[in-house]
Amino acid sequence: MAKKSQNENLHKAKDGKKDEFYTQLTDIEKEMKHYKDHFVGKTIYCNCDDPEWSNFFRFFALKFEDLKLKKLISTHFVYSDMFVQGDAYKLEITRQLNLKSDGKLDFSDKEKTKLKRNGDFSSSECVELLKEADIVVTNPTFSLFRQYVAQLVQYDKKFLIIGNVNAITYKEIFKLIKANNLWLGASIHSGDREFGVPDDYPLNAASSRIDEDGNKYIRVKGVRWFTNLDYKERHEDLILFKKYTPEEYPTYDNYDAINVDVTKSIPADYEGVMGVPITFLDKYNPEQFEVVGLGISNSGIEIGVQPYKPEHKKYRKEVQKRGAVDGDLYLITNGIVDVPYARIIIKNKKL
Ligand SMILES: C[S@@+](CC[C@H](N)C(=O)[O-])C[C@H]1O[C@@H](n2cnc3c(N)ncnc32)[C@H](O)[C@@H]1O
Repeated sequence: MAKKSQNENLHKAKDGKKDEFYTQLTDIEKEMKHYKDHFVGKTIYCNCDDPEWSNFFRFFALKFEDLKLKKLISTHFVYSDMFVQGDAYKLEITRQLNLKSDGKLDFSDKEKTKLKRNGDFSSSECVELLKEADIVVTNPTFSLFRQYVAQLVQYDKKFLIIGNVNAITYKEIFKLIKANNLWLGASIHSGDREFGVPDDYPLNAASSRIDEDGNKYIRVKGVRWFTNLDYKERHEDLILFKKYTPEEYPTYDNYDAINVDVTKSIPADYEGVMGVPITFLDKYNPEQFEVVGLGISNSGIEIGVQPYKPEHKKYRKEVQKRGAVDGDLYLITNGIVDVPYARIIIKNKKL
């Protein structure tokens, strides 16, 4: 292997290590309780999870009987380069595990099977396990979120995974949302969540802590569950109480829709299309609203958002010194170009 590509690989591995965030058991429990019926008789696969420490594996292993699972499979990834051979393994169980006196799960090394490769979710042996699984549940690597979801869709799997709210704006992810093939989960709609991090993770005081056993944690903003498993609450209407006025809800300069800055202020009586923040999806009931599109860059162009007028593009770039990407929605507010953060275009189905 040439030196350059060796370095690139090491680089990727190092970048990947920034992905080492360990999901807390309480966050997993709070989400899983909404899907109990989905789990009965199913094979669950956690494919970014070392069963020695993953709370996803722990949750399902300890609740195996309660949830009436058929099988639980866990595989994990070992960072490796050409000099270091990984020792990735899988653990498959068809029974409930108990806790040992030290608080660890009671399974033996004999129950582990060594993987031939490094446990990459897209490796052929992990794909074979994926084919066998009914539902994939994990917090996958952030850096490969698009590829990770694409693989789940390719193999037509049910899933319940953690990601960042901004993944909504990825073209491929948004397409799934628009087609009602993916939606946000039930339990996280705001704030931040705590994740465990490795011992060598650099902490900054504001958003981190070390517990009495020396374990490190950081708080991460914008976390969401992404799923294609249905749950009751996502069919509840958002209660709308505002009335439309053209003053409060201006129209975009380059698209025939009104701008709504806060989801709870969606006007109850507006029949046309509206641009709302991406966090609208936290409240989205597909029987109440239609998702028309996403008002940024190429996704915007696809739904007919007009490119910047030359004078507005010039103003944005030269006076405001900001990016001006055609397809982004913008308003003219008091004579200046005003580009809101990514907007989802919706329509009220019930009017
Ligand atoms: C955000 S962490 C979450 C870990 C664990 N699922 C949890 O929730 O505690 C993402 C994990 O994905 C693993 N990972 C990175 N690249 C991977 C790949 N290509 N295939 C499988 N796992 C990978 C990392 O080792 C890391 O442990």
